[in-house]
Amino acid sequence: MNLDDSAQDPEKREYSSVCVGREDDIKKSERMTAVVHDREVVIFYHKGEYHAMDIRCYHSGGPLHLGDIEDFDGRPCIVCPWHKYKITLATGEGLYQSINPKDPSAKPKWCSKGIKQRIHTVTVDNGNIYVTLSNEPFKCDSDFYATGDFKVIKSSS
Ligand code: FES
Repeated sequence: MNLDDSAQDPEKREYSSVCVGREDDIKKSERMTAVVHDREVVIFYHKGEYHAMDIRCYHSGGPLHLGDIEDFDGRPCIVCPWHKYKITLATGEGLYQSINPKDPSAKPKWCSKGIKQRIHTVTVDNGNIYVTLSNEPFKCDSDFYATGDFKVIKSSS
């Protein structure tokens, strides 16, 4: 028996890649949503690159698939439509601006709160888009909203 076979191991199956759609389609729409092993994700196609992340914002569960993409400090971010938090597409970091109160003339500076939104891996094969869920062992704030209680996509299954 092959113990490496993900079909035999539920944990490995959870981290196997799942086809979520066609490259042609996401290039037109520039975003799509998908349910990957029971986790809801949004996939963005932005300036020639693919990014996937948990669909619900780490702050209070806002629907990131309905947000706008803007650059902050030269980094493309999804702006949550609920309270305008900014999340980098590439790393899932929350960005904020800070000012040194001892230096009122200083310009506000963009800073990172660290990784707040879980990022997943997107691969393209033969015109198909695949998402592989992150199995990074750290606790990510967006994990809280990635449960059944906060579903926004209607699963086709
Ligand atoms: Fe996204 Fe508050 S829920 S910013």
